[in-house]
Amino acid sequence: MVAESNKALVEGTASYAKVLLCDLPGDRDLFLMLWPPHVSTCIHGHPGDGCVHKLLEGKLTETMYSRDGEKGKCQTIFPGGSSTFINDDMGYHKVWMH
Ligand SMILES: [Fe+2]
Repeated sequence: MVAESNKALVEGTASYAKVLLCDLPGDRDLFLMLWPPHVSTCIHGHPGDGCVHKLLEGKLTETMYSRDGEKGKCQTIFPGGSSTFINDDMGYHKVWMH
């Protein structure tokens, strides 16, 4: 059941839709995010328990940053169907939808 929806501005040029699908016990939520092509997030972290991404379709590039915002840990391209996890102990990241 969709409990909430909103739009968030991403880097001032485009937006993505983020829909809360389920408010889970504790500090956990399940979101469906719809990104148009060529939209990127800013560099951000995932404090607490972190974040699991499941890419349903498309292709996404993740660039990892150290916690001080320095680039260069690695860059990975994820195909549709892939899953990944990040938390602040691993660093920060920026993701870009192809
Ligand atoms: Fe993220």
